[in-house]
Order: sequence, then C-alpha cells, then structure tokens
Amino acid sequence: MSDYISMKARADLCAAAIKKHDRVQVVSHIDADGLTAAAITSRALDRCGIEHDVKCVKQLDRKVLGDVADANVPTIFTDLGSGMLSEMPLDIEIVVADHHQIDHRQVDHQHLHHLNPHLFGIDGSTELSGAGCAYIFAQSLGENRDLADLAVVGAVGDLQARKFGKLVGCNRKILRKGADHGVIGYKRDLSLFGKQTRQMYKLLQYSSDPYLPGLTGNEGASIAFLKKIGINSSGERWKRWIDLDEGEQQKVVSSLVQYCISKRMSSYHIQRLVTEGYTLTREREGTEMRDASEYSTLLNATGRYGSADIGLAVCLGDRDKELARAKKKLKEHQKNLAKGLNFVKEQGITELDHIQYFDAGSSIKDTIVGIVAGMSLTNHRKRDMPMLAFADSDEGVKVSARGMQDLVRRGLNLADALEACAAKVGGMGGGHNIAAGATIPDGTKDEFLELMDVMVGEQVAPEG
Ligand code: C5P
Ligand code: C5P
Ligand code: ZN
Repeated sequence: MSDYISMKARADLCAAAIKKHDRVQVVSHIDADGLTAAAITSRALDRCGIEHDVKCVKQLDRKVLGDVADANVPTIFTDLGSGMLSEMPLDIEIVVADHHQIDHRQVDHQHLHHLNPHLFGIDGSTELSGAGCAYIFAQSLGENRDLADLAVVGAVGDLQARKFGKLVGCNRKILRKGADHGVIGYKRDLSLFGKQTRQMYKLLQYSSDPYLPGLTGNEGASIAFLKKIGINSSGERWKRWIDLDEGEQQKVVSSLVQYCISKRMSSYHIQRLVTEGYTLTREREGTEMRDASEYSTLLNATGRYGSADIGLAVCLGDRDKELARAKKKLKEHQKNLAKGLNFVKEQGITELDHIQYFDAGSSIKDTIVGIVAGMSLTNHRKRDMPMLAFADSDEGVKVSARGMQDLVRRGLNLADALEACAAKVGGMGGGHNIAAGATIPDGTKDEFLELMDVMVGEQVAPEG
C-alpha cells in the first residue's frame, strides 16, 4: 500500500471516532500552519454538523493539557500533539493530526487516534505540513477538496517548499488536487516576497532570501536598479509585480540574475531567485490572500501576537473587519522582523565549535525569534552550523533553532537535540530535524549551549 493510502486509512479511523460526537474542541498552534490547520478542521466539522470551539496555543505544555482535561470534551489537536502523546489526558477521546516528530515514550491510551506522516514513512518537515495533515483528516470527514488552498498556505508558511524550491511529496498531491479543483494555481516565478501587494522596488529592498548585496536595505539603489532596466522609468505610479507584462517580468528576472552573478553571489543563492509560486485563484488579485507566501505571513502576524482569532477569521472567509485588523498587525510584524534582524546585526552572532547563537533577551518576542533566527542563518556568511536563538518568555527562556538542508543531510536533527538537551536542564523541546524549539528554565542557558554543542557535533558528519 502506498504511504499516502495507509495514511488515509488512518485518517478514516480518526474521522469515525470524531463523528460519534456532536461537540468537540480543536486545539492548534499559533503560526500560519497551525491557523490554516485549525480552519480546515473547523470548516470540515461545520460541514458535518459537529459543534466545536477552536483554541490556538503557543505550545502544548502541561498547563494546556490540564485545561483540555478540565474541559472534558473530545479534542482534536492539529499541528501539535505528537511530541506529547504520553501526557495526553486519559479519559477523553483524542485525535492528534500533526507532523512534528513523535514522542517515543511509552503511550498507553485507549482513546487516542494518531495521524502523523512520520508513522507512514512520509517526512513531516518537507512532505506534509500540519495543515496538510488536517486536510487529509478533513477528506475523511467529508468532501472538502476546496480546502486544499489553505493546506498549501500552511505548507508554504512552514517553509516546506524551501528544500526543492517547490512543494513535494504529499504536499504536492494536495496541491494537484487543489489545482484540479480550480482553487489553486502554481508556476515558476520570481521568489521575492510581496508580488501581489508591494510596489516593485520594495521586493528588492526587503529581499532577505536571497539577500541582494547593494539592494537589500537600500531603497535608492533598488529604485535605480529598476529604472535602469526600464521599469517605472517615466515617473508613473509604482507598479507591483503583477502589474508587469510578461516581457517586463522576464527582464527583471534576467537582470537580477546578471546582477547577482556580477556580485559574485553563490549559485545556491542565485537559484533561489526563481522558485514555484502559489496563487489562490478565488482570492482577489492584489490582495495578500492571493499569494500563499503573503497569506502565510499575514497569518503569522496575527497568531504569533496573541491574535489567532483574527487570523482564523480571515481563513474562514472574513474579508472585512478582521482582515483590516490583520493588515494592521502585518505592518507591525514586518517592523518587528526588521528590528529583530537589526538587533542581530548589531549584537553579533557567537560561534561555538558546532553551533552558533545569539541571545535576544527581551529585544525580540519569543514567538518570532525563530523567524529571525531562520532569516539570520540564510543571510549569514556561515551556514554550516545551525543557528540557535534565545529570548525571554513568561515560561522561562525560549530557544529556537534553525538549520540548513545540507546539515540535515549530514545527520543534523534539531528536534532530537533540543528534546534531549532541554530535558537534561529541566526544560522541554521538540519540532523537526531542520527547525525546532524548546523552553528551558532561567539560568540554564550556558549548560544547555554546552550540551547542544556536543550533541550537534555528534550528529553531523564531517563534510565530504
Ligand atoms: O510548528 P511548525 O511545524 O508549524 O513550524 C515549523 C517551523 O519550521 C516554521 O517556523 C518554519 O519557518 C520552520 N522551517 C524552517 N526551515 C525549513 C523548514 C521549516 O525554518 N526549511
Ligand atoms: O518556536 P519555533 O518557531 O522555534 O519552533 C520551531 C518548531 O519547533 C515548530 O515546529 C514548533 O512547533 C516546534 N516546537 C516544539 N516544542 C517546543 C517549541 C517548538 O515542538 N517546545
Ligand atoms: Zn506545522
């Protein structure tokens, strides 16, 4: 049986367990993948006539699990849960639809149904997102193919298209289903962020992946670059990417490639200029929701700032008040990311033998420090060691870790490392091989760093 078919069979069992109830609750993660996973599940439950509440949390810890036990209703966890199977409340029916690495402690639970790609030989860090997993579950609840567009937004939000410059594996199956159903389009395109909504020069000025030397962070140079190749040369209103005709778009791409070659950028970075892009065909042109990448950033701008309800409302179709609130939050989010990157630039990055890190203290919010760590690693000249970032949080010290695909190929598994090293200092961690997180007690950072440096050194084989 194919991996996908076995997974679908498990999803059918999960759906059958939930359909016995007329009231359940959904607990999901606060990032774009978590919000889209929750929205897909919520829509599918509505269509089955199953009443439900949705709750989004920063992480699944004992406190949240205590609340779940107190609520005492059947619970569907999406985009989280697989790392905490052994701690699930025993007396309620539970479905975990997640793609994180799995808790390998002994689990003895009579009413637990677990749907996770890792159980079926599918890689949960590149081949299926939390939203994709929720989509497969939703397909077992009923006819929900139209929700494939949200599953693509979730996968893109979790950077699952990054490894190959396009969605692969189960994510690709879902993409094709969505395309056949007419809800999503895909094509190779300029990779820069903001193709639907931003004035063209801002795509260059704010480009971080790839970092464009001489253009990134420089408005004047970005404008001059475009004027030189005849884009907006006549003082007209600035066009967006989608306003350019095909010839103009080609001109921008080829000129950027030439520019990057002249700046001696690596072929790794130059290749990142063109990747597959995803368009939500039912959304209005020129809006954030039309582009999967912009949509996912809009969602991160809500959930990661304690306003998951706004992002969820947008996913469920609000294009009025909640969207306006989300857009306001997006502006703040983008400012915070820029400030965060500046902080790292000014404070610098400390290198140990096998890892590198920065400590943001209270200067970067714990819920976005992982994004800043990822961006800093991609931009940094040294990408052969994973990046760790620390930030103060109410629960202790938040740790975010990000790696590159090359390191994962050589054996890096950040989820294993963070889980083990956090546990040794009295904390908790998990996630994916390429990106993971943890919370550790105050005052344990130095010991944790030493443990991580050793463990990553053991995981990663020498280059060659
Ligand atoms: O909790 P969740 O699975 O939704 O989050 C995955 C995280 O991994 C995201 O923050 C995403 O940005 C990160 N990631 C990354 N690089 C990749 C793949 C994922 O930083 N290549
Ligand atoms: O918080 P951050 O963005 O760094 O998280 C990276 C990945 O690690 C996400 O997939 C997140 O769900 C996961 N994570 C986890 N356990 C934690 C913290 C983060 O599984 N305690
Ligand atoms: Zn996820």
